[in-house]
Amino acid sequence: MKNAISWILVLFLLVSVLNNCLNNSVKKEIREQAAFMDNLRKLYSSGDSSKWPKPILDPESLATFSEIGHLPEISFPSDNPYSAEKELLGKTLFFDPRLSKSEQIACASCHDPELGWCDNRTFSFGHDRQLGVRNAMSIINTAYAKNLFWDGRVSSLEEQSQKPIEDLREMSGHMDLAAGKIASIKSYLVLFEKAFGDKKVTKERISKAIATFERTVNSSPSKFDQFIDGKAEMFTDDELMGLHLFRTKAQCMNCHNSGYFSNNTFENIGTSLLGEKGEDLGRYLVTKNLDDAGKFRVPGLREVSRTAPYFHNGSMSTLQEVIEFYSKGNPEHAQKRQTVHEGILLKSEKSGMVRMLELSDKEIMQLEAFLRTLSSKPEKVTIPELPK
Ligand code: HEC
Ligand code: HEC
Repeated sequence: MKNAISWILVLFLLVSVLNNCLNNSVKKEIREQAAFMDNLRKLYSSGDSSKWPKPILDPESLATFSEIGHLPEISFPSDNPYSAEKELLGKTLFFDPRLSKSEQIACASCHDPELGWCDNRTFSFGHDRQLGVRNAMSIINTAYAKNLFWDGRVSSLEEQSQKPIEDLREMSGHMDLAAGKIASIKSYLVLFEKAFGDKKVTKERISKAIATFERTVNSSPSKFDQFIDGKAEMFTDDELMGLHLFRTKAQCMNCHNSGYFSNNTFENIGTSLLGEKGEDLGRYLVTKNLDDAGKFRVPGLREVSRTAPYFHNGSMSTLQEVIEFYSKGNPEHAQKRQTVHEGILLKSEKSGMVRMLELSDKEIMQLEAFLRTLSSKPEKVTIPELPK
């Protein structure tokens, strides 16, 4: 009997010692994790990005890499300087459906300020309710894009604004006709005089005014901007880990970097569907370089939570889907990867920078939480009165 009691006692002692050890190691782990997070928070909100942990980058991305951070000041081209009058004229034209053949479709029909300056549709409806073939891009921060459109086929906003007016599926008009129509509207002439010094209405002036307006449509400081400026409490732990993952394990910064969250290059992430329904040759259509088949412009990620659906073809409807796609390294082997176009065999070569990341569900959630911090509060846009 005595023996049994001592055995029970010994056993009890052993269990409590073990339990204590286990508890201590769990506590230590929690303490270490908390210290790690505290330190990350301190570094990232220090106001000095040179103190941030080193990013994980591929050698091939270094030539176009710059650290993420604030958007720089906008610069206006010397042959189209800013004036408030020109901005107002441009804004008025942007919202005016009379630039289209049917007089029903304005730029703002597909670039709606209440819908993140895009239309939140896979493909837009244009002239005669025809469907387009690519997802409408937001025009917010477009001033920071070096080349415009998913394939970069134009390189200035002045040149860009003529394209949708003449696109048969979009506004189906003609610049000369549009300019003529605008010139026949009396009170527009006053706006042109204020913006350009005289009442002459030309297509170049229309383009310049619209471009000037577009350069003013930019993100205001987001939660991310405030956090890195020193407001350490702005980020939750998940948002903080998301930022760290974005710069390290998830390797998003190979392509989405700088204050614009794009390195302004073209990359192939395996979305071109070569040889399949919906195939899009992307950058190849502009350059005719075989290497460019299936490349698309790296889009900036500011305001991205407001501009679903995603990719040039609107094929992903949520950010979670996009991140899961990257986590799997886009298993392109499941797709056909070649096509014959105008007698030329084209192959899609996915970038080596898109690879299996094996992110956990928690990490996917944290990356999404971080991406959401890149949106600023939508400002209320007053729609200008259209001249009669
Ligand atoms: C019917 C819908 C529609 C209309 C109307 C429309 N757009 Fe677009 N916009 C699009 C689509 C779709 C794209 C992407 C096309 C592509 O990449 O090939 C786009 C792209 C753009 C871009 C490129 C953004 C970037 O970052 O590269 C700008 C700028 C733009 N549009 C401005 C305008 C202006 C200015 C007007 C009016 C003159 C206009 N759009 C009218 C659908 C439209
Ligand atoms: C190799 C370069 C590259 C890397 C690495 C990369 N991206 Fe992208 N990203 C792109 C390109 C190119 C597109 C446009 C593809 C298309 O339209 O078909 C894109 C599109 C996106 C979009 C959709 C934006 C929109 O407006 O439609 C999101 C969101 C995004 N990337 C997030 C991420 C995240 C998060 C990571 C890291 C896990 C990442 N990207 C890694 C090049 C890259």
